[in-house]
Amino acid sequence: MSTKTLDSRTIEIIKSTVPVLAEHGTAITTHFYKTLFNNHPELLHIFNHVNQKQGKQPQALANTVYAAAQYIDNLEAILPVVKQIAHKHRSLGIQAEHYPIVGKYLLIAIKDVLGEAATDEIIEAWGDAYGVIADVFISVEKEMYQVAASKTGGWDDFREFVVAKKEVESDVITSFYLSPKDGAQISEFQPGQYITVKAVINGETYTHLRQYSLSDASGQPYYRISVKREDQKGNVPAGIVSTFLHNEVSVGDVIEVTAPAGDFVLDSENSRPVVLISGGVGQTPMLTMLKAVANHQPNRKVTYIHAAINSKYHAFNEEVTNLANQSENISYFLAYESPTEQDKETKNYQKEGYVDLAWLQSILENNDAEFYFCGPVPFMKAINKALQDWNVPQERTHYEFFGPKGSLE
Ligand SMILES: Cc1cc2nc3c(=O)[nH]c(=O)nc-3n(C[C@H](O)[C@H](O)[C@H](O)COP(=O)(O)OP(=O)(O)OC[C@H]3O[C@@H](n4cnc5c(N)ncnc54)[C@H](O)[C@@H]3O)c2cc1C
Ligand code: HEM
Repeated sequence: MSTKTLDSRTIEIIKSTVPVLAEHGTAITTHFYKTLFNNHPELLHIFNHVNQKQGKQPQALANTVYAAAQYIDNLEAILPVVKQIAHKHRSLGIQAEHYPIVGKYLLIAIKDVLGEAATDEIIEAWGDAYGVIADVFISVEKEMYQVAASKTGGWDDFREFVVAKKEVESDVITSFYLSPKDGAQISEFQPGQYITVKAVINGETYTHLRQYSLSDASGQPYYRISVKREDQKGNVPAGIVSTFLHNEVSVGDVIEVTAPAGDFVLDSENSRPVVLISGGVGQTPMLTMLKAVANHQPNRKVTYIHAAINSKYHAFNEEVTNLANQSENISYFLAYESPTEQDKETKNYQKEGYVDLAWLQSILENNDAEFYFCGPVPFMKAINKALQDWNVPQERTHYEFFGPKGSLE
């Protein structure tokens, strides 16, 4: 944690101006990103352009700066939030020297949007506060870089991997087996963690970074990621990196990735039954969690619940079925939203339609479990609501967004 302290007048100014800034939050961060990228176009190699267009990222950054400012005299309170973001930052290769740049353009944006209301005193106070908040991020991230590098087989920046195998898992999901080009060891990871892939695409001015959860057990000589192809839908353009990986990356090609990161991880110290609920490609972190329980906690009960449109879209059925067949502690349930005629004939699923509370209650003995879930946002909202309605304590629900963290309410 930072040793810098703010005087009481600065703290007072910050706390009293948080609501004003929050009110103009998105206007400020939108302006901020525009001037930031105009002056530092090299940062477009790091930021996700689509998240920018959709306003998700400006909102996430604004919310965090204001939340941090509210706790400016007690930043320990927001450390868990800082750590979650720091995992993402570390995975993207964000460095200490980036922080003053962001700070400079954030202050300019505050001044430009608030106009005369932003007095010199207010701007100075926010400059100091940003410095304190940035120092917390920098020190948390510094430690994370050190930890990533000091692990056996670890590294702290981007490292070259060769695509050793490419395997079609469903009509839309393909797995990529990545072996380190240097032939050396690769670090183990916690079940649920992800890596960041750097896509260098012919004809694109900038690199594109995306996170992909690891989908095979830790301890192999390769990392496996499994990617859903985001096709063009009407006027919505196709996903840049997923279509690049599917259509242009072949066995033998080299891609750069950062070391495993993320705090959506299975608590292996806990022996309470675990329920893993996924929708679509949200299955990937659940696979490493399932494999970790199967390999290291064979006596722990695990229920694997997966929702897919139908068997055409459904990946890893055989892999999960094999694991479930090997242990009486693993149960496996499937919900198909719109089964094909063949699915209906073979009845290879347990529920037609969405995962809902009534069905969960019919397949689970009780709510005394750790619940992990991941999938499209509407799916996660429905699961979160079902678990709330079933009085599952919040500390026993764990979830991950496959994009900037949002709200499930
Ligand atoms: C922690 C984490 C783990 C993840 N794990 C996985 C995983 O295991 N497997 C996986 O497949 N994905 C995973 N993701 C998601 C992944 O990182 C990418 O977001 C995903 O592959 C889409 O990237 P893209 O470049 O193809 O799409 P992008 O180009 O980033 O576009 C994103 C989506 O927006 C749409 N879009 C594009 N332009 C616009 C526009 N102008 N307006 C509206 N919509 C638009 C695209 O069609 C696409 O569906 C994970 C994400 C996170 C944060
Ligand atoms: C104190 C300052 C900062 C705060 C409060 C902050 C906050 C955030 C938040 C909340 C997210 C979303 C995380 C998630 O939901 O997964 C995020 C992601 C990100 N941050 Fe920061 N950040 C700060 C500094 C920086 C700096 C200095 C950089 C680099 C120039 C940076 C680059 C990014 C990038 C590239 C992402 C990924 C999101 C995307 O591309 O869409 N951040 N940050």
